[in-house]
Amino acid sequence: MNAPAIMSEPILKVEHLSMKFGGLVAIGDLSFEARRGEITALIGPNGAGKTTVFNCITGFYKPTEGMITLTRSTGTQFLLERLPDYQITARASVARTFQNIRLFSGMTLLENLLVAQHNKLMLASGYTVLGLLGFSTYRKASAEATDLARHWLEKADLIDRADDPAGDLPYGAQRRLEIARAMCTGPELLCLDEPAAGLNPRESLALNTLLNDIKDTTGTSILLIEHDMSVVMQISDHIVVLEYGRKISDGDPASVRNDPRVIAAYLGVDDEEVTDVLTEVGSEQIVEELDAEPDRAHGPSDSASMMAGPVSDTVGHSDPAGETVKVSPGASKAAQVDRREKSGRKKSEGDA
Ligand SMILES: Nc1ncnc2c1ncn2[C@@H]1O[C@H](COP(=O)(O)OP(=O)(O)OP(=O)(O)O)[C@@H](O)[C@H]1O
Ligand SMILES: [Mg+2]
Repeated sequence: MNAPAIMSEPILKVEHLSMKFGGLVAIGDLSFEARRGEITALIGPNGAGKTTVFNCITGFYKPTEGMITLTRSTGTQFLLERLPDYQITARASVARTFQNIRLFSGMTLLENLLVAQHNKLMLASGYTVLGLLGFSTYRKASAEATDLARHWLEKADLIDRADDPAGDLPYGAQRRLEIARAMCTGPELLCLDEPAAGLNPRESLALNTLLNDIKDTTGTSILLIEHDMSVVMQISDHIVVLEYGRKISDGDPASVRNDPRVIAAYLGVDDEEVTDVLTEVGSEQIVEELDAEPDRAHGPSDSASMMAGPVSDTVGHSDPAGETVKVSPGASKAAQVDRREKSGRKKSEGDA
């Protein structure tokens, strides 16, 4: 518990995490790790459960089941599923940004970054008006807070606009301002929910530069939800892929990019196109199996999109609490690849 943690050990361990909303299993028995000092990307099609995972990590939701352990660099461990959200930031040192930008648009950039340091400043004031007016500790803390804010505005290439209202910034710059604001809290784990959403290629590049800079100069570990593959593949050390709340792949960018289950699930392509994509990445064995025998019992789905899986193709499963939940086997392209792999194997055993 108290031994100092070293780089590349897990800073975050998610174990058997489940989150149910009524009958909907948004996350089902998910386990993965994010290593210290690395950028870990959480990817998957729309509705896969990525933001829900963030909401469980940062205390917005209390998970139905599972354990989320954060180990600080001092070695102190926190079970995040048991902490209230404000303590997750203050004690466990986790900061996040949101899928939809949440800035104080009427405040200047500098003010946005000072508000983020409110806790530190209030502590220095001794929580008294006199403290605010007179204490040298407060004056010192206030000067340090401004220095830190200016530091992160420079890093985010926003220092020239420090005194402009945040709402006047272009979209990409607002995204970087959110990250700068999160960094002002001095996090050990920074969770970013789709920071590249809506960015043009130049803004995406500026984002990559900022994230790499954060990783290299501060050692902050980053957990990144992102759809923009130019960001994910270039800067991630490790990628975890979700589909319908389940993990379908976990590894370095090269292995995940070539994983047939990811190609099938994430790209959400037609069955014929799955074959094309697999041929392109050289998965000959799987291509042969796909050619061998379609699994008529479970599909295939006619849908070309992960976002439009055949929801009617559901089966009931009972969980240990006796609740019946619906899953959609035909909707999962990754599961199709698995089933075909299995049926291909059976067929070749039968032929032998
Ligand atoms: N508070 C909630 N109440 C009910 N259902 C919810 C709630 N939050 C999320 N869900 C459902 O859980 C599933 C996962 O949603 P989530 O927002 O985590 O997906 P996502 O992977 O972040 O998708 P996107 O890429 O579109 O942001 C969806 O089916 C969603 O409708
Ligand atoms: Mg989301």
